[in-house]
Amino acid sequence: MDEVVALCKRRGLIFPASEIYGGIANTYDYGHYGVLLKNNVIGAWWKAMIQERDDVVALDSAIIQHPRAWEASGHLAGFTDPLVDCKTCGKRFRADHLQELECGRKPSKHPGETPECDLTEARDFNLMFETSIGPIREGGQTVYLRPETAQGIFLNFKTTLQYARRKPPFGIAQVGKSFRNEITPGNFIFRTLEFEQMEMEFFVPPAEAEQWYQHWMQARMDWYASLGIDRERLRLRAHDADELSHYSSATSDVEYLYPIGWSELEGIANRGDFDLTQHAKFSGEKLEYFDQATGERYVPHVIEPAAGVGRTVLALLCDAYDQDEIGGEQRTVLRLSPAMAPVKVAVLPLLRKDGHPEKARTIYEDLRRHVNTEYDEGGAIGRRYRRQDEIGTPLAITVDHQTLEDDTVTLRDRDTLEQQRVPVAELVDRVTELTR
Ligand code: GAP
Repeated sequence: MDEVVALCKRRGLIFPASEIYGGIANTYDYGHYGVLLKNNVIGAWWKAMIQERDDVVALDSAIIQHPRAWEASGHLAGFTDPLVDCKTCGKRFRADHLQELECGRKPSKHPGETPECDLTEARDFNLMFETSIGPIREGGQTVYLRPETAQGIFLNFKTTLQYARRKPPFGIAQVGKSFRNEITPGNFIFRTLEFEQMEMEFFVPPAEAEQWYQHWMQARMDWYASLGIDRERLRLRAHDADELSHYSSATSDVEYLYPIGWSELEGIANRGDFDLTQHAKFSGEKLEYFDQATGERYVPHVIEPAAGVGRTVLALLCDAYDQDEIGGEQRTVLRLSPAMAPVKVAVLPLLRKDGHPEKARTIYEDLRRHVNTEYDEGGAIGRRYRRQDEIGTPLAITVDHQTLEDDTVTLRDRDTLEQQRVPVAELVDRVTELTR
């Protein structure tokens, strides 16, 4: 994990937020290549949910919803972690994670392990961030930053049913930021205070719930493999009864073998009719489906695949991180699939003279209309290759003396290191084909 974190910092993918002020707990910023990688993940998710299906529609709901929504959803009463305080070191710990945490005074010990530790009884601590609406804090309305995007979907079930002319089974998908006041140390971007979720609520006739639960478990596993993640490092793990969330009758996690061990990448839950029933009760609106053909009226059950953008990015980075040796020198390389790579091709003039830069820029300007392309003329060619290898660019084009004679370039493959001579006229087709 340390090597992945160092690479992300060095190449400007992801780095600690507010660093000039000493950082802020469990919060990270994404730089140029990190943004491109993240957008590729989100794009692939939308493609799988919307473009490749005809039973899911998109939504972008507000982060701050009516506070009653969180009463109805159970988050206000039940979205808590048990915390203990140590009266000796003054630190606060998650009571159910003590074995993973370090004592405030003795880093090699866990809290409660030394005779000096003086832990309080566990108390429940709500994970929702609170703020208020209005110019004056006192008397303002207390509201919450959403801890999951899912509730915005349930609140829009009726509206969507009406305008989208759908009948169950159908889904509503959304991507957006969620916020949780997490206390546990984060393991880089694995657990952060703010994070993007990719959630889809799939509304089904109650009798079909189990069948769709099975469908989404398989579909989601296949999706991660389609991003290029090694199937050997992916698994499905069903929750034990005592792990289930308050709304769930069955949940399975897609887990990835991160450097910290097998951990949750996505949760797939059978939420039953819990959410629609609760929001109907609290809002007074009928949230059900009436089938005009059969005269049947029912509250749909919900199957929810809920993924995290950051955790997917972290899985991709850990999976792609590799080191090998070229000509006796160690090379760090991100073996990202071309579809996920932030930059698809780099165009590099061999020299900064003799017409190489001008020719390379023409090729670059042509290619960038088709795929994300980078032009780089700074430094020795070997160092420029290494830079591209470290951000996972699958292809590099080099313009050299021969280019000016016969209008061909070398096309270098990041993984095989093979270099082929390719006519400039064929580059757009070759590069788009190879990075699809
Ligand atoms: N609507 C259901 C729900 O939110 P969850 O298992 O709590 O379920 C879904 O969250 C996904 O969101 C997780 O599998 C994970 O990928 C991501 N996630 C949750 N909390 C996170 C955090 N603090 N930091 C980063 N990602 C998080």
